[in-house]
Amino acid sequence: MPEVMETLGRHRLLPVVVIHDEAHADGLAEALVRGGLPLAEVTFRTEAATAAIRTMSRRHELLVGAGTVTTAGQVDQAHDAGARFVVSPGLSPSVVRRCAQLGLPVFPGVATATELLAALDEGVSTVKFFPAQTSGGPAAVRALAGPFPHVQFIPTGGVTPGNLNDYLALPHVVAVGGSWMVPAEAVQEGDLETVTALVREAVALVAATQGR
Ligand code: 3PG
Repeated sequence: MPEVMETLGRHRLLPVVVIHDEAHADGLAEALVRGGLPLAEVTFRTEAATAAIRTMSRRHELLVGAGTVTTAGQVDQAHDAGARFVVSPGLSPSVVRRCAQLGLPVFPGVATATELLAALDEGVSTVKFFPAQTSGGPAAVRALAGPFPHVQFIPTGGVTPGNLNDYLALPHVVAVGGSWMVPAEAVQEGDLETVTALVREAVALVAATQGR
């Protein structure tokens, strides 16, 4: 199994990071590792994204990917900065194809069976289910998985400590993604204690229901 899938399947959580200042990237990396979750999706929603990916990727124990990737050009920037996977809010064939050329695992966002079929046509086997909670939540994932038993889902969007295990109980869900573990304000204020505590709480919630 590719390393990215193995890591996602082991931790079952994907923190979605919005970082405004690259100076906070190393502290954030430290907080994630200390909290027991050595992976992150750094979103291309800020100017600091590529620099943050570069800084965080220097820690070899941390698996860093790029999120909110919407163009093939951003795939190149993410790859150059050291991103090891790519997440997109929707399905862009040009993003998926550029990732394939570079050998980067890519998880495009889908919310319907038609979008899922288009993703399969592009050779994708793991999708982000987005926005998860407003697109029907765990019941929608279960229904979509029926006709697509070989697809793996990463539900993201509205996932919280209160509902994450409803998603993770589904056999087709490899992991859930979310920003609640890494609040942008806490990252911006350098409040790494808060980030570490939220990450630890999420890790413990997953462990508790999986008998770890
Ligand atoms: C994303 O880009 O994946 C979402 O913004 C994350 O959704 P959340 O903030 O509801 O966790």
